[in-house]
Amino acid sequence: MSTPAEREKAARLTRQFHDARRQSELVVLEGFHPLKHALRFGARVECVVTDDADHMMGLAGEFAEDLTAEIQARAEIVTQKVFRQLGPYEPHTGVVSIAHRTVSDPVEVLADDRAAPLILLEDPRHRGNLGAVIRVAAAVDVAGVLTTGTYDPWDPVAVRGSAGLHFALPVAHLQQLPQLDRPLLAFDPRGEPLDPRRVPARSLLAFGTERHGLSDELLDRADACVSLPMRPGVSSLNLATSVAAVLYSVRLLASGSA
Ligand SMILES: C[S@@+](CC[C@H](N)C(=O)[O-])C[C@H]1O[C@@H](n2cnc3c(N)ncnc32)[C@H](O)[C@@H]1O
Repeated sequence: MSTPAEREKAARLTRQFHDARRQSELVVLEGFHPLKHALRFGARVECVVTDDADHMMGLAGEFAEDLTAEIQARAEIVTQKVFRQLGPYEPHTGVVSIAHRTVSDPVEVLADDRAAPLILLEDPRHRGNLGAVIRVAAAVDVAGVLTTGTYDPWDPVAVRGSAGLHFALPVAHLQQLPQLDRPLLAFDPRGEPLDPRRVPARSLLAFGTERHGLSDELLDRADACVSLPMRPGVSSLNLATSVAAVLYSVRLLASGSA
């Protein structure tokens, strides 16, 4: 039997998570690792809920010693029944949180004068792929990830896919590609073989949608069309795999490891 206070807490949290999924300035973090990266990269976290505090603190001890006290202080503990009411997905780590999104203006991201590449994903359709791109882009420390098309790049499934690394770099949706002051490189299996030495530092690296690849409009605007070489018979790489291969070929060259 639950107490009136527990019932009040369950109703409050259920409402809070329901509302957060509908508010464009908030994002629900599904799992421990998205919470860890959100806190580590300075996100404003509104609430942390777990149905297994021992497991959560074990993960904190193993993967986020720097954040153990903060996570413990924020956590609200609920029963598994209440935890399951908080959203459509039940993370196996037993942790869900709500954070404020980092708002980035895509025009300002494009204007960033740091000597770092910027990723453009044209209409990505697979939110797990989108998250995986953001994760590798954060690891390589690029200037940001911009997307076009129907999906919100801050969808909770994409944030789960990036393990919360959306908070480590600018991630924004772009309605239309404006005039550019940086070279535009289109990645397409039919392009010229990639030479990482010929990728200018501030390039905009464009990758196409999973099924159809880059649009003709974008290919027409590109300064170069580049491919990752593949064995005959293989038609293309996965979107996130191709972004990772390109970024690390450029990164390893720059660091003298290739
Ligand atoms: C799954 S692929 C799209 C496949 C699509 N049928 C095509 O032929 O373009 C998604 C995106 O990954 C990138 N990509 C995949 N394989 C590539 C390769 N070998 N070289 C360069 N880019 C590649 C491209 O940007 C492509 O638009």
